[in-house]
Amino acid sequence: MGISRLLALDIDNASTIEAVASSAANFKGVELKAKDIAEAALFLASNESPIYVSGHNLAVDEGFTVVDNSISMIVSQMLMKEKQLEGKVAIITGAASGIGEAAAKVFVENGAFVVVADIQEELGLKVVASIAGPDHRAIYKNCDVTVEKQVEETVAFAIEKYGTLDIMYSNAGIMGPGGSILDMDMEKGFDRTLAVNLRGPALCIKHAARAMVERQVRGSIICTGSVASVLGGMGPHDYTASKHGLLGLVRAAASELGKHGIRVNCVSPFGVATPMAMSGMSVMGINDASKIEAIICSMANLKGIALKAKHVAEAALFLASDESSIYVSGHNLTVDGGFTAVDNSAAMRSQMLMK
Ligand SMILES: NC(=O)c1ccc[n+]([C@@H]2O[C@H](COP(=O)([O-])OP(=O)(O)OC[C@H]3O[C@@H](n4cnc5c(N)ncnc54)[C@H](O)[C@@H]3O)[C@@H](O)[C@H]2O)c1
Repeated sequence: MGISRLLALDIDNASTIEAVASSAANFKGVELKAKDIAEAALFLASNESPIYVSGHNLAVDEGFTVVDNSISMIVSQMLMKEKQLEGKVAIITGAASGIGEAAAKVFVENGAFVVVADIQEELGLKVVASIAGPDHRAIYKNCDVTVEKQVEETVAFAIEKYGTLDIMYSNAGIMGPGGSILDMDMEKGFDRTLAVNLRGPALCIKHAARAMVERQVRGSIICTGSVASVLGGMGPHDYTASKHGLLGLVRAAASELGKHGIRVNCVSPFGVATPMAMSGMSVMGINDASKIEAIICSMANLKGIALKAKHVAEAALFLASDESSIYVSGHNLTVDGGFTAVDNSAAMRSQMLMK
């Protein structure tokens, strides 16, 4: 009888009819057969199994009549849409810890395959074990971003393992030793900080862009800047120089790579109590994460919330996704509660006057 109805639609092949029925079904992966209905009838016929069942309509419909299929279709479409990076392949440098680790988690949760690239192998493998899941959506690759060969190999590794490269999130960074400019250590301080925070991202952009251009991938490249990308006095001199330089590099790369459809952006956080921030504060004798968070909050413009690595990762997700930020390039997305948009010294003075 089912077949005779579908014959009117010129569908006269049993397996096609089964496929049509399955596509409309609520429960996927199983096709309803006449034998399944016969077994339900056997169940009702037997007075051994359903002895207290009467007046009942035993629907053999895999739940079709008990769910609102139009709503469930909308909900499942929304859920699919929420996975903003479904099937995309990303490299995240500095993903063994802090913001990079949070980004790896958020990217995988949103359907991406992620190469966790770092120099801390043990921590990186732990991150992978915690997020990869049965589809092996994350994999570790040792990569010192200051070494060109390692960055090039990491890009090749992503392509070999996952078939392409859609997203490069150049996030690895160090704070540098800090101290007065009068005593600046040019090699261990300035050169090293710029090597990791500026040369590293330059290598990441170079090799990711090469792979994307070659494969005609309209990719997304993101770099972690900082409030120190736009303001002085927010970190050590060499760190500030590296992060200002990074923003310039991002804008310059966006200008060249636009013709290939590749977007290049910065995500620039305010303070987050990660190991890097803690190492920066430990020179002042402060080693406790909650104390560091309290100090950061006391300096912040936006009150009542402490900035977490996850918040920064979600901003990176926005920039990575070509659903949400398809026309955003050359941008510095500050995740700073408005800190760099207000004159903090003037705001502090006016608040004191208002008291
Ligand atoms: N935490 C903050 O307050 C803050 C604020 C603004 C910007 N940032 C930036 O965020 C980024 C991430 O820092 P985080 O706060 O998550 O710190 P973190 O120390 O938790 O993470 C940094 C990661 O980078 C890795 N790394 C360091 N040198 C590397 C190298 N040569 N090659 C590869 N990996 C290397 C480290 O092993 C570490 O896993 C950095 O670029 C940092 O400048 C942090």
